[in-house]
Amino acid sequence: MSVKSFFAALTRHPLSLTGTAIATAAAILFLFLFSLDALGLHGHPYIGILSYLIVPALFVLGLVLIPIGLRRARKRHGAAAPLPVIDFNLEATRNRFLVFLALTVVNVVIVALATYKAVEVMDTTAFCGEACHSVMAPEHTAFQRGAHASTRCVDCHIGPGAGWFVKSKLSGSWQVVSVALNLYPTPIPTPVHSLRPARETCEQCHWPQKFVGDRLRVITKYDDDEASTERKTVLLMRVGGLVGRASQGIHWHVDPSHTIRYRSDASRETIYEVEMTDLRGGEVVRWYADGAEEGGAEATTGIWRTMDCVDCHNRPSHTFRPPAVEIDEAIATARIARDLPYVRREGMKLITADYADREAARLAIRDGLTRFYVDEYPEVAADRAADIDAAATALFEGWAGNVFPGMKVSWGTYPNHIGHEQAPGCFRCHDDAHSTPEGKAISQDCETCHSILAMEEVEPEILATLSP
Ligand code: HEC
Ligand code: HEC
Ligand code: HEC
Ligand code: HEC
Ligand code: HEC
Repeated sequence: MSVKSFFAALTRHPLSLTGTAIATAAAILFLFLFSLDALGLHGHPYIGILSYLIVPALFVLGLVLIPIGLRRARKRHGAAAPLPVIDFNLEATRNRFLVFLALTVVNVVIVALATYKAVEVMDTTAFCGEACHSVMAPEHTAFQRGAHASTRCVDCHIGPGAGWFVKSKLSGSWQVVSVALNLYPTPIPTPVHSLRPARETCEQCHWPQKFVGDRLRVITKYDDDEASTERKTVLLMRVGGLVGRASQGIHWHVDPSHTIRYRSDASRETIYEVEMTDLRGGEVVRWYADGAEEGGAEATTGIWRTMDCVDCHNRPSHTFRPPAVEIDEAIATARIARDLPYVRREGMKLITADYADREAARLAIRDGLTRFYVDEYPEVAADRAADIDAAATALFEGWAGNVFPGMKVSWGTYPNHIGHEQAPGCFRCHDDAHSTPEGKAISQDCETCHSILAMEEVEPEILATLSP
């Protein structure tokens, strides 16, 4: 058979003909898109998905169709067609073999390039955050506003090494299908039970034993009165860390010399039992929630989990915040002018109301605030229109960073376990109601975790002392 008849064979059956056409078109398209990318024209994330996922998939599909068609064509010429005899003494066979070899090399190069680039594309924040827009919008939006905006989704959700890579790509493929078919739950459930242990993700960048010591935290809030009076809470956080050979303070929980496990419901909000194992001496201490010890239903149900960073820092990246925190921060950073009368009280009303979508929220917040000043403070409305407008924008931004009606995510959908204000957090264990059989409870003493140097004071003395 000559080179010519080799191509003739490819076109004999409609399936191999279609396969050849698809593979050729995909190869040309791929090489074209790849050269654009190599020239630095990266474009939208969708182009990456098209070039390195969809086009290569079509290419492989084409390649698979060719042999199927060839076999069918052969079957059509007789049920028991003999296998071809490959005789390298014939010039035609050698030619055909060379063509086959050259095409295979081209194919392998295309598939390899595509795989390499596909992996790169899937690791970008754009792919994770934007490719399925509405689904990841809450996490992606909060991520961009947080401390980890310069890291990548995959640094926490996949981490280094091949094992988790494959695992997450498999579950990722299912996620793509579920997004395409609208099967995903809204809101996306939390906690993530299959999250890779923090030891292998967070600890690539953070050292848990690092001694942080005491950290001063100043929390600024505003009252709902006419002047939106400013109040400050000053806490000395006992973050601690490793001191000498033993650790102390809040980061004591993740000291490598012991492990803490706990048994809880699936939401991790209700904790039945806590267990600490000293890895040096082997001593084990157990604390039981009231009633969990005596063989009731709570004595055996639940899921065990070893405590790591994420049990406290469960929102290191997608930190959704309560409305009060959003407004207070906007006032503190002067995006909302505090001297607008009752601006905090009115702002709270407006951003906690229900809106159907972003546009409705933007308009209603602006209208609501403007109307309040027109009705109650006409001079303010006339003189300070620009400030009122800026305040409305800041309020809307606070709303839009936390509320996603399409995903049924609203204020408080995702609890934050740091602290005990927004959700039970530390008090899931530190509630004086989890105790050892001897009756020693996990402490709720305020001084265990922080010294309260000032509590909602207008002019805390401690701050005057620190910066006179
Ligand atoms: C600094 C680490 C970190 C980064 C970076 C990060 N995440 Fe997460 N993410 C987490 C943790 C931790 C959880 C699990 C919280 C839990 O299980 O309680 C989580 C949970 C989620 C969830 C489940 C729903 C929820 O909010 O709990 C989604 C969806 C998600 N992340 C998407 C993303 C996307 C998209 C990006 C990139 C834009 C990203 N994450 C970047 C740490 C991170
Ligand atoms: C790729 C590196 C990287 C990974 C992985 C990572 N972080 Fe971070 N983390 C950072 C950087 C960078 C900052 C910002 C430091 C700054 O703002 O000074 C930060 C800041 C923080 C902060 C303090 C800032 C704040 O107010 O939120 C906490 C807490 C934190 N990370 C926890 C975590 C946890 C928990 C994980 C694992 C789920 C994690 N990080 C994974 C790089 C990383
Ligand atoms: C028992 C709960 C808990 C655990 C477990 C925990 N942290 Fe923290 N971490 C805290 C609290 C509380 C703070 C202080 C937050 C504040 O200032 O309001 C903090 C502060 C931090 C900070 C900021 C330190 C600074 O310089 O201000 C980083 C970074 C951090 N943690 C990383 C981690 C990492 C990484 C792990 C896991 C190895 C971890 N944490 C485990 C509760 C915890
Ligand atoms: C899963 C349960 C659990 C959660 C959640 C938890 N802790 Fe603890 N914590 C413990 C246990 C158990 C001890 C040891 C109590 C004892 O030895 O009496 C402890 C001890 C401590 C100590 C004393 C450490 C030392 O120096 O000896 C501090 C400080 C502390 N926790 C802070 C926090 C903070 C802050 C949070 C929330 C961000 C938190 N814990 C959340 C279980 C928990
Ligand atoms: C197990 C540790 C722990 C105990 C016990 C504890 N706290 Fe806290 N508390 C925290 C942490 C962690 C934060 C910081 C939360 C954050 O970073 O936003 C906090 C924050 C606060 C704040 C500031 C909240 C805000 O946003 O305005 C106040 C006020 C406070 N605690 C009061 C108390 C009082 C009063 C007690 C004693 C009944 C107490 N805490 C016991 C861990 C604890």
